[in-house]
Amino acid sequence: MGNGSFIHLVKQRTSCRSYEPRPVPRESLELMLEAARLAPSACNKQPWRFAVVEAEETRMRLIHEAFLAGIPMTWAEDAGAIIALGMEKSAFTHTIAPKISGVDYPLLDLGIAGEHLVLQAEELGLGTCWIGWIKPKEIRKIVDWPRRIEPVGLITVGWPVSGDRKIRPRLAPEMITKWI
Ligand SMILES: Cc1cc2nc3c(=O)[nH]c(=O)nc-3n(C[C@H](O)[C@H](O)[C@H](O)COP(=O)(O)O)c2cc1C
Repeated sequence: MGNGSFIHLVKQRTSCRSYEPRPVPRESLELMLEAARLAPSACNKQPWRFAVVEAEETRMRLIHEAFLAGIPMTWAEDAGAIIALGMEKSAFTHTIAPKISGVDYPLLDLGIAGEHLVLQAEELGLGTCWIGWIKPKEIRKIVDWPRRIEPVGLITVGWPVSGDRKIRPRLAPEMITKWI
């Protein structure tokens, strides 16, 4: 749990790759989606779309058909839910504006929304892991999204096996920040 402070919550979150095989309460998923829905986005275009996969058969299809090979990720089978993140681009902000500025606005927006969702999960005592090693077309088929929605990632959600947290190192502040 978050212990009251935002930085504590952020420090506590780690990618969870070991879950107890039990369902995630619907209200928890709803709160996470609400946190994502309230994220900021370029021109407030809100390009995020979510598919919440609770059904076991569909979760297994995602894991076995929509994960790319090479990284063993069978641990995801015990996560009670998998949330697919989809991007629906609008005409100007997401198509013309990035050509002018070179900035991929909708992908940035998806990252923000996804991390809101992850941090809300953390506050609820749930574990998550972003999955970017995916086959977007397979995800689209499995969750039955139309072509205009581009899958950009998955997030596993479940009950962490306690005591199985790995803290991964981060670059030192002076390596990533310049003060001018
Ligand atoms: C966009 C993105 C994609 C990721 N893709 C995967 C993935 O496909 N498989 C996986 O096991 N972890 C994946 N991760 C988790 C990272 O490996 C993890 O965040 C990083 O190693 C830092 O560790 P921590 O999250 O435990 O702090 C992804 C994370 C992000 C943000």
